[in-house]
Amino acid sequence: MTAPQALAFDMYATLVDPIRIWKQLELHVPGEEALRIAQVWRQKQLEYTFRLTVMERYENFEWVTRRSLDYALDECGKELATSHRDALIAQYNDLERFPDVHEGLTALKALGHKMIVFSNGTPRMLEAIMDAAGLNQYFEGYVSVDEVRVYKPSPRVYRHVAERLGRPLDEVRLVSSNPFDDIGAEAVGMSAVWVDRSGGNFCRLGDRPDMVVGSLTELADLLASRTQPQLDLRR
Ligand code: 2OP
Repeated sequence: MTAPQALAFDMYATLVDPIRIWKQLELHVPGEEALRIAQVWRQKQLEYTFRLTVMERYENFEWVTRRSLDYALDECGKELATSHRDALIAQYNDLERFPDVHEGLTALKALGHKMIVFSNGTPRMLEAIMDAAGLNQYFEGYVSVDEVRVYKPSPRVYRHVAERLGRPLDEVRLVSSNPFDDIGAEAVGMSAVWVDRSGGNFCRLGDRPDMVVGSLTELADLLASRTQPQLDLRR
């Protein structure tokens, strides 16, 4: 029997879908453009986190999310009133859960793993989204990179989450749909699971993790099969 590992779950794009915010954007712009703005917004949001960390500068994820929204609207030639931008940022704290999350997390929790959320989101964002998406019941809390003021995939954030879990790095498994996050975790000795929600195109900067699943329910089945007592075939 292998002891259940501690599981650290990424939030955005893993548990909730940032691209689905195009449904709120559609209140202000036609569908196709709304989807494009949501995609540019997410890409620029992550790009800003990488650039801030390389520059050894920190602005929190609320600041980054607002500035990247402003960029995406400008890039797509859309003017929105501040009140509408504020409403979109508020909606970012109530993003839709992926359909497999409730069943998958319930099954994973039943396996006895210590489970926390581990995200670029600020504590205020994570508390809001965990309440709105009904996620508190599955987790023993969250770790925000805001505690160390650097972003994923800096080695510092993975070391920090292992410290907060009180586990050595090799006893923590990151669960993330973001390949840069999986690669960053494995670079410091954590194991990782890629939850492939994007149709199979993993990043070219590193190898796929040893675990690749299409959903959290599939992950629960996979981990359950690995923690079953080994059949004693000598009988
Ligand atoms: C998260 O940290 C990477 O945005 C992703 O939740």
